[in-house]
Amino acid sequence: RYVEPTGEDGAAPRDEQRRWEEEHMGAAKLRFGAKDSLQRNPQREYDLVLPEDDMIEFVSSVTMRGNVMQSEGGVLSEAERRKQSLAAVRESLPVFPFKKELVQAVAQHQVLIVEGETGSGKTTQIPQYLREAGYTKGGIKIGCTQPRRVAAMSVAARVAVEMAVKLGSEVGYSIRFEDCTSERTVIKYMTDGMLLREFLSEPDLASYSVIVIDEAHERTIHTDVLFGLIKDIARFRPDLKVLVASATLDTTKFSLYFDDAPIFRIPGRRFPVDIYYTKAPEADYLDACVVSVLQIHVTQPRGDILVFLTGQEEIEACCEMLQEKSRRLGSKIAELIILPIYANLPSDMQAKIFEPTPPGARKVIIATNIAETSLTIDGIIYVIDPGFCKQKSYNARTGMESLIVTPCSKASANQRAGRAGRVAAGKCFRLYTAWAYKHEMEETTVPEIQRTNLGNVVLLLKSLGINDLIHFDFMDPPPHETLVLALEQLYALGALNHLGELTKMGRRMAEFPLDPMLSKMILASERYKCSEEILTITAMLSVNNAIFYRPKDKVVHADNARINFFLPGGDHIVLLNIYNQAVTAGFFYHTAKLTRSGYRSVKHQQTVHIHPNSSLFEEQHRYIIYHELVFTTKEYMRQVCTHGRDGM
Ligand code: CDP
Ligand code: MG
Repeated sequence: RYVEPTGEDGAAPRDEQRRWEEEHMGAAKLRFGAKDSLQRNPQREYDLVLPEDDMIEFVSSVTMRGNVMQSEGGVLSEAERRKQSLAAVRESLPVFPFKKELVQAVAQHQVLIVEGETGSGKTTQIPQYLREAGYTKGGIKIGCTQPRRVAAMSVAARVAVEMAVKLGSEVGYSIRFEDCTSERTVIKYMTDGMLLREFLSEPDLASYSVIVIDEAHERTIHTDVLFGLIKDIARFRPDLKVLVASATLDTTKFSLYFDDAPIFRIPGRRFPVDIYYTKAPEADYLDACVVSVLQIHVTQPRGDILVFLTGQEEIEACCEMLQEKSRRLGSKIAELIILPIYANLPSDMQAKIFEPTPPGARKVIIATNIAETSLTIDGIIYVIDPGFCKQKSYNARTGMESLIVTPCSKASANQRAGRAGRVAAGKCFRLYTAWAYKHEMEETTVPEIQRTNLGNVVLLLKSLGINDLIHFDFMDPPPHETLVLALEQLYALGALNHLGELTKMGRRMAEFPLDPMLSKMILASERYKCSEEILTITAMLSVNNAIFYRPKDKVVHADNARINFFLPGGDHIVLLNIYNQAVTAGFFYHTAKLTRSGYRSVKHQQTVHIHPNSSLFEEQHRYIIYHELVFTTKEYMRQVCTHGRDGM
C-alpha cells in the first residue's frame, strides 16, 4: 500500500529512515498490546481473547496539545450527561462565554471569520445567538451552509430540539431534492450547493440578513464559488452580515480574501491526545482497522471508538467483519455496538450514532470523513485513522473524472486525531508509520475547484450574468484548461453560443440541479415525447448506484437478480425497467395497506402516516410502498408510491 520511500537515486533510504525514527521516536516506545494490558489488568487473560501474533504493534511519538485542558475525572458518564438539562449543555459549550462579544463583533463588522475547534458550538449556537439579537425580526432569515447533506439535516434537527420547535417550522433545512422549510423558517441550514442555486431566483439574497458559510475549511467547489458571489453582493448590501466559520485551519487565508476581515477565535477546549503510529506499514488497512478496534476494546479503558474509512462499501465491509469477529469472541468480550455513518445512510440509522452508549458497552462508529469536522459525536476517546480518503480528481485533457482512494493530508489527519480529545484525554492510532506522516502526506488538501469538472458551475455563473470567468474572484482559481474544457462542452451542448453567451437552452438547463449533460437530455426528451422515461432514468442515475446492493455472502444471488432486469438497449433502459418493476420487488417489505383507521404497515401491523411533503399526502390508495419509515412527531413514510396492486 505504501510505496517504499525511495531516495533520489531510487534506493530506499532505510538508514535515513532509521536514523530519523531513532531521533524522533526513541523517547516513548510504548507497547500497546497484550503484555501492556496484562500488566495493568493481571486478572484478565487477554491472550485467550486475542492471540498476540494478531496484534498490531504501535509506537508512540507525540502528544497533540494546543489549547489543552487536563483531564479531571475522565469521561462524564452518560447518565450524568443525560441529567444535564438542554440549557446546561448549551451553556457548557466553549462558544457560550463569548456570546455577547460575538454578537457585538457581528454588529461592528460586515464580514467576520469565526474560528473554533469542532464541537465548540459554531454551527448550532451562533445562528441562535443572532436570532436572539434580533437578526430575524420581520421574518428575514439567517442562512447557514454546510458542505454535507447529513450535517445540514442533523444540525437543523438538533437546533429545533434546542429551540423546542418543530423541525421545518422556525428551524429548517434544505438539501437537494428535499426542502424541509416553511414560510415561518428563519434559521435555515442548507447545503452550499442549495444556497448557490438560490442566487438564480434571488441574486441579492434579499430574504437573508445573515449568511454563515460554515465548514469553510472544507473548500468544496460550491463553498468556493459562494465566497466569490457573497463577497460581491456584500458590496452593495451593507446590511448583509457574512460569517465564515471554520475549524482551526486556514483562517488567515479567509481573512485576507475578505479584505482583512477580523478573525474571532473561540478558545479551544481540548484534552491531550496521544498519537500512536504503526511500526511498519499495514498491508490491508481494513483488516488493520478491525484488529485495532478489538485490540482497543479488550485492552483499553472505557470510551467509544471512531474509525475513519473512505466510503460506504468499505464501511459496510468493516462493520460485517467486526460483527463476525465479535460474535465469534462471544461473551469473552464486553458488548460492542457497531454503527456506520456515511452520507447515504437512511436518517433513522444516522440518528443512532448520537444515542448514548449503555453502561458496560462500547460504541464503535465507522465513518467517512464526515466525522472529521461536520458532525460532533460525544464520548469518543479513541480514534483509528488509516490515513486515507476518497478524493475526486479531474483530468481536463481526457475529460476523465475519477474518485480514488488517496492518502489524506496532514491537516485531515490532525483533525481526525482531535476527535479523540473532546471529552477527556484520548488516543489516536494511526495505521501508518510516523515516517509516512512526516514525509509522504501533503500538508493540506487541494481545494475541490482545482480537481473537478466545472461544467455545472460555469453554467450557473453564466446564468447569473458573470461572463468573464477568467477574472472571477476565486480564492484559488481553477486550472485554465478545466475552465476552457467546461466552456467547450457547454457550447457543444448548445448552452452557450459562439460568443460564449448563454442561450435560451442554456438558461433552461441551468435550472436543473444536475450535470449539464443530464439537463440537456431531459430538455431534449420534450421533443421526442419520452420525458417520463428520461426523468426516471435521470433519477436512477442520480442515486450513485445505491439501487444495487451486493452483500458479500450473496454475490451470486445479487448478480442473478440484476441480470433478470436486463433488456436490449443497454444500462439506461435496464434502469428504467428496474424502476418500473423494482420498486415493488425491492420494497415489498415496505408495503402499507389502507384500513379504516388509516395506513397500517403490512409487515409489522403498525399505524403509519404519509409524510406531509409527499405528493400522495392528500390521496388515498389501497396499497402504497414507502422508501423509508422515519419517526419524527409521528411514524412517517417518506418517498411513497402506489403499489402495483392498487385498484385491483
Ligand atoms: O459547529 P461546531 O463543530 O463548533 O459545534 P456544533 O456542531 O454546534 O456542536 C456543538 C454541540 O452540540 C456538540 O458538542 C454536541 O454536543 C451537540 N450536538 C448534538 O448533540 N447533536 C447534533 N446533531 C449536533 C450537535
Ligand atoms: Mg460545525
